[in-house]
Amino acid sequence: MARTIEIMINGRRMETLEGKTILEVCQEKGIYIPTLCHLEGLTSRGSCRMCLVRVEGAKTFLPACTTEAKEGMVVITEDQELVSLKKSILELLFSERNHLCMFCEKSGDCKLQSLAYRFGLDHVRYSFNWRKFQLDVGRKYFLFDQNRCILCRRCIRACEEIAGHAVLTVKDRGPDLMVCADLDLPFEQSTCVSCGTCLQVCPTGALSDKYSAYVGREEHFDRKRTVCTFCSIGCSIDVLSRDGVPAKIEGVWNEGPSSGILCVKGRFEPFYEDRPKIKDPMIRKNGQLVPVDWDEAESHILENLKLLGGVEHCIGLISSRVTNEAAKVFKAFFGQNGYLIEGSGAPEGNATLSDIDAADVVVVAGINLEKDCQVASSFVKRAFNRGAEVVVIGSAGKNVDKRATKRYRNWNEKVTTALQEGANPVLLYGGGVDSQQLRRIRELCPEIKCVGLANGVNSRGLEREGIPLWEGKEIEKAVYVIACDETLDERLEFNLRKAEFIIVQSAFETSLTRKAHVVLPSPSWQERSGTYINTEGMVRRLEGATLKAGSTKPDEYMLSRLLERRMG
Ligand code: SF4
Ligand code: SF4
Ligand code: SF4
Ligand code: FES
Repeated sequence: MARTIEIMINGRRMETLEGKTILEVCQEKGIYIPTLCHLEGLTSRGSCRMCLVRVEGAKTFLPACTTEAKEGMVVITEDQELVSLKKSILELLFSERNHLCMFCEKSGDCKLQSLAYRFGLDHVRYSFNWRKFQLDVGRKYFLFDQNRCILCRRCIRACEEIAGHAVLTVKDRGPDLMVCADLDLPFEQSTCVSCGTCLQVCPTGALSDKYSAYVGREEHFDRKRTVCTFCSIGCSIDVLSRDGVPAKIEGVWNEGPSSGILCVKGRFEPFYEDRPKIKDPMIRKNGQLVPVDWDEAESHILENLKLLGGVEHCIGLISSRVTNEAAKVFKAFFGQNGYLIEGSGAPEGNATLSDIDAADVVVVAGINLEKDCQVASSFVKRAFNRGAEVVVIGSAGKNVDKRATKRYRNWNEKVTTALQEGANPVLLYGGGVDSQQLRRIRELCPEIKCVGLANGVNSRGLEREGIPLWEGKEIEKAVYVIACDETLDERLEFNLRKAEFIIVQSAFETSLTRKAHVVLPSPSWQERSGTYINTEGMVRRLEGATLKAGSTKPDEYMLSRLLERRMG
């Protein structure tokens, strides 16, 4: 257990626990120390020198973020000399590259700018270096402007220590020192996976999200904490909206299954949705879909189901993006006639992704992490970065395979031995894992931690409701599909081609809604509320981040009405 020590800061005697940095002690005691390169959760490197403090007996000023507080230390955090030194550091940073705030996306939220205000920087004594650095705009979702980089290296550390991808580094020296991707490749050609972690930690306007650029500053946005709905991990996210319109998604450090890491699907892609939104119920009249209210849509559904022999002749199909609340009503309405379109594929494990952080052996089987679960690939890459043995069976994606200590085409005795010999082994598997092998390995290594990565987003929740998987049979009479915001595959459409009456509940227009007889609006990712069960078996709560468009209702709304009519 850490020992209590006593130190003196700015003339005040205080107690703290041994092992903390001076910065941590000051933050704990509410004493302000300016910082720039430091970020909680990343290794401190002490590169910007904004946190310098005076320590009695030391020959130079010391960076508070990397200096450990020791028994009896006497520390001064602010005096005239320190203030003047920090002002000079800021002046140097401003003179070194182009920091014309009024043209910068980050203005108002920039750490460098706010420190300049705090230190009353009204002029710069050094001559400006007007050298123009190239912009890297090739990436679809974000750009990198070297002109506004202060070389704090937060992005480099975050890419390696948080996201595990270790794409970024620095090249050259002195005034030519620059952040670059891989061996100085444009981002577009590098191994960057567009997870956006570096954007979230950059203190200046050097890394900017193209979509939210110039939409507003932090003070203009409403922040809503919810859950990403694009895969079965269910990362915690903050949706930042201005005037009710989402503009940006951020990961939430230290919360949820991924502790802040997001993937490109969760952080950027939702903003590039180009399918038209369905806002109101529609029924087909004279070959055309026309908007109606919910009452008329309900009557139309009931009349047509009656003509086709009643509800018993209607098959229900449900997307795995549907909430548990809607799934309950779906089950009550359709009973044995209701099916899940995409099942989990991978059986539930007994551990969580965060268990990989303590693993000494990680085996990945039956899943391409890069394609199907980028966030899980971060955990595996991090394990590799800290020296764990990573064994891949088949392929987990090019950049995970590259980091594998061993790779095998199929499961074999060597994999089993690696798991048996590990002090803390984790098996991470997807739907492609050999289920017999999985059972066998669990028998052979009862202590092993298993993390099963499910295919469908809320397939675990829907399976717990007892909704069976659809086997893809042809449907001839009536079908009610809850598609949420998914575009369903061609196989499904093919099997519905003979159906006489098609009801589709969907957030967006798709080829299926264009064939339907009734179309009902489904909440899109930012409108949906309710709960999911994530791949680890954890309940995740979704909070609609925006008001629902038009007369959109929760997915259970129409089925609850139909159920009431049937019961009543
Ligand atoms: S990065 Fe910050 S200091 Fe530099 S121009 Fe942008 S707002 Fe101003
Ligand atoms: S890009 Fe941003 S985070 Fe990275 S070194 Fe430059 S200023 Fe720091
Ligand atoms: S987007 Fe992600 S992978 Fe790409 S450089 Fe930034 S942190 Fe690294
Ligand atoms: S915050 Fe301590 S050196 Fe940068």
